Amino acid sequence: MKILSVVGARPQLVKLAPVAQALEKAGHEHLVVHTGQHYDADLSEVFFAGLSLPAPHVNLGVGSGGHGAQTGQILSAMDTVLEAERPDWVLVYGDTNSTLAGTLSAVKLHLPVAHLEAGLRSFNRRMPEEHNRVLTDHAADLLLAPTEEAMRHLAAEGLAARSVLVGDVMVDVCHQVRDALLAQPAVPALPEGLDPGEPYLLCTVHRAENTDSAERLGRIADALADLPVQVALLAHPRLLARAEQHGVKLERGAVRVGRPLPYAGMVAAVMGSAGVVTDSGGLQKEAFLLERPCTTVRTETEWPETLADGWNVLVPDPTELGRAQWAATVMRPAPTAPRAAPYGSGDAARRAVEILAQRLP
Ligand code: UD1
Repeated sequence: MKILSVVGARPQLVKLAPVAQALEKAGHEHLVVHTGQHYDADLSEVFFAGLSLPAPHVNLGVGSGGHGAQTGQILSAMDTVLEAERPDWVLVYGDTNSTLAGTLSAVKLHLPVAHLEAGLRSFNRRMPEEHNRVLTDHAADLLLAPTEEAMRHLAAEGLAARSVLVGDVMVDVCHQVRDALLAQPAVPALPEGLDPGEPYLLCTVHRAENTDSAERLGRIADALADLPVQVALLAHPRLLARAEQHGVKLERGAVRVGRPLPYAGMVAAVMGSAGVVTDSGGLQKEAFLLERPCTTVRTETEWPETLADGWNVLVPDPTELGRAQWAATVMRPAPTAPRAAPYGSGDAARRAVEILAQRLP
């Protein structure tokens, strides 16, 4: 079986790791197309090296741009690659512009498409990712869903016949890396000026809805700066670019700004933290898997399972909570009730590869 994976953004490289391993183990041919959506070494190269990913067969080098330009460039560049390779499956991951463009290009060439992490919904139509998910699910031939909830969403949209529950590949990679770190602890590269002997919160903010408005980003930066515990803010390039553009100062008060970390560094940083504050989908779940309380600065989450027992708490607007309650929320202790395992047991990639082989069109 010949699989062609389309990836382009940081979270897709993380998901690619266990899938590439499982494909190799099962002896299938695997080509990786990197769209180049993420091109900073911190968001791309370090993940290839750190997760031992197969080198991309081709890098489309599309870079940044408006949604239309970015999606369109990937779409037109993909055609040539797919025509030349004609894989048995085009495998797309998650919800980025690379996911949607890879899907559209494949279906128009009548190549079968499988969507890994299908069925997630925020029901927030202002998020670019929501359109990418919905359109990808409706175009793809096989929907590999991470959770029961995702399966319900797919069924509600009439897609049950194409959907299979495989579990979440993020569990595979997160647990593998956690276990390696427990066997051989490593000190994560936290921002300069952060006292590693004192408790810290690990923070990331990058979503368009939090960074594109000067007012909103300013309020989030104020709320973080105001906290009575130090905050390690690992800054995505989008955050730095928008903060500069809007004249919002990030490094002040409790906040120390650092570079994004490689995957193992990120897992180590979560394990060393007192809690996580984020708007990232992946990090919400990593916090849950690594048993750290997470506060999500958004109105909704695609991972509602993390909300059980208060492992994750949604705070749409930190400044509305009031200073004391905001601090109490982000610094709340980890829940003591035993956690369920809504994301599967860590063999999702193997299951996904099995299903791809079984459902070969
Ligand atoms: C993308 C995904 C998002 C995912 C995130 C993970 C879409 C619509 N969004 O968001 O779902 O959670 O990746 O990181 O596909 N930039 C750089 N260097 C880079 C990449 C981006 O400087 O290597 C900056 C540029 O200013 C660019 C901006 O980030 O304009 C946005 O990049 P883009 O790829 O559009 O989306 P992300 O915000 O990274």
